[in-house]
Formats: sequence, structure tokens, C-alpha cells
Amino acid sequence: MTLSIGIDIGGTKIAGGLVDSGGTIVRRARRDTPAQEPDAIVAATVELIDELGAAARAEGVEAPKVGVACAGYIDKQGANVLFAPNIAWRHEPLRARLEEATGHAVVIENDANAAAYGEFLHGGGADVDDMVMVTLGTGVGGGIVLDGELMRGSHGIAAEIGHMRVVPGGHLCGCGNRGCFEVYASGSALVREARELVASGAPEAARLREACAGDPEALRGAHVTAAAQEGDAAALALLSEIGRWVGEGCASLAAVLDPAVFVIGGGLAEAGDLVLESARIHFADELTGGGHRPSPRFVVAQLGNDAGVIGAAALAERGRA
Ligand code: BGC
Ligand code: NA
Ligand code: ZN
Repeated sequence: MTLSIGIDIGGTKIAGGLVDSGGTIVRRARRDTPAQEPDAIVAATVELIDELGAAARAEGVEAPKVGVACAGYIDKQGANVLFAPNIAWRHEPLRARLEEATGHAVVIENDANAAAYGEFLHGGGADVDDMVMVTLGTGVGGGIVLDGELMRGSHGIAAEIGHMRVVPGGHLCGCGNRGCFEVYASGSALVREARELVASGAPEAARLREACAGDPEALRGAHVTAAAQEGDAAALALLSEIGRWVGEGCASLAAVLDPAVFVIGGGLAEAGDLVLESARIHFADELTGGGHRPSPRFVVAQLGNDAGVIGAAALAERGRA
């Protein structure tokens, strides 16, 4: 049996799994992400690898390969995090640090690329050769598979779709630029807009105000999704606005990449059709040549939040090729 370890370093938690070659997670482990503390994130990741490594040994696998997905620009060699818009990593030799601390062979990969690869092998892209994964979380991530290959670009950092400019002079992004896709379509954007609505005192925000006991800073994305699921009009409008940005952004991507499917993942994908219906409508409105050409499908990530862990483990097994 082949077992490998996949780790997905996210904004709130570091998820780990021991994954078999069929893409099934046979053992899970997790830690909270130590906020904004690169060394503490490395330490927590090492703990998870050690824990899952011991679980692998108990299954008779002595040296499982390790894939680590993280939210940053990874160099072509899969060795260094060059830059991370939402974590304080700058030229971080992450692979070497993890290999030295754990003794395992490690590959590192961009989180959305890993999720895309997981979905391509075992989820929403399993039946196609060309897919684009869009992850909606703290940031917006992208993973592009064309002709069955993960597209990395000459420097390893292709598919940073969260940083396409969609609004000239718009909101400031963690990357330092203004108007990036991710400051409009991410979970963080949803929370910003929802808090602003609550703080404005608008009567239609009554349900959301109640959810955070009147303190806008206490409002979370999950509150918005829950209110929308109960039919709250303001929450529904906030989610469909995210969907509009997603749909319009994907129309631009389709003009360039022509995928068969867009797989939407990340925490916000849990809102499902509350985001996707609006994405589909605005995508169709904006798709160039719409009505005269085949249109890609939109699906929610079928591996849910496990896509990154499963994809990272699969990439580790393949030596990240
Ligand atoms: C980062 C990407 C990452 C995405 C999702 C973006 O801000 O630039 O590298 O994939 O967030 O985490
Ligand atoms: Na990516
Ligand atoms: Zn940006």
C-alpha cells in the first residue's frame, strides 16, 4: 500500500492527512494556524508531519513522502516560498526547514494548485483534461490544469488569479496592489462587506446584527452563510454579490484558458448555490462569444476542504511533477 502525507496550511487551521493512492484520507490531524507567525507555522507543521509519520509507520510505511500546500508563491523547484500576500513569508526555505526537522522527503506546492490537482484526480475535474480551480477563502487561489498538466509557469507562480486586477484603484490587497480579484471575491471580502453593512445601521441588516450581538467585528463568514440559508435577504445579497465577482472573473479566465469546468472551492464554497447560482448567471452574461460557443460548467469542489490535503499528498507521491 502506498501512503503519503498531505498538509494544507490555511488561514485558520493546518490540516493534515495520511492519504492512500486512491485519494482516501485514512488518518487525519490538525492544528490551529498560529496567526502570522512563520516560525510557529513551521513548528506546527513539523508536529503534524511527525504525528502522521508515526501513523504511517504503524501501517508499515516507513518513509511516507510529504506534500505541503501553502498560500504563497512557490518557486519552480518547489523549495522556497518566494512571497505570500497573507503570511509574513519572504524567500522562506520551507522545504529545507521541513526536511531537516522531520527527516522526510518534502515537496511544497501552492495551496490552490494542490487543491486543483486533488480535484483533477479525484473530484470535480476527474472527467476532464482542462479545468480551473478557484478557491474562495482568506484569499482567492487559482489552480489551472490544461491538457492534464498542472500549469506552473516559468517561475512556478502561474495561476495567481486572486491578484488579477478587477477594479482600477480599488481596495488595497495583501499583495500591496489595489483592486485585486481577491479583495472582492474572497471570504475576507464577504466579511468586510457584511461588517460594513452591519455598522451602517441599515435596517435590512437586523438579522446579521443579531448574529454578532451588535458587534460588527465579531461577525464571521459562517454567520452570513447561516443567515442566507434561513432566507435572510441581506445575507443572500452579500453572497450573490460574491458570486457576481466570481462569475465575471471566471469569464475573463475562460476567454484565456477555455476550461471544461470551473471547480469552486475554499471555505466560501460551503455556501454552494448561494454563491454559484449568481456566478453562473454573471459568467453567462460576460462570457465572450456566449451563446455561440460551448460553455464550461461550474461545480463545487467535490473533495470539499480536503482537496488541498489530497492533492498535496498526490503531488508528493509523484515527486511534484
Ligand atoms: C495567494 C495565493 C493563494 C491564495 C489562496 C492568495 O492571496 O496569493 O498564493 O493560493 O491566496 O490561499
Ligand atoms: Na495557484
Ligand atoms: Zn493582490
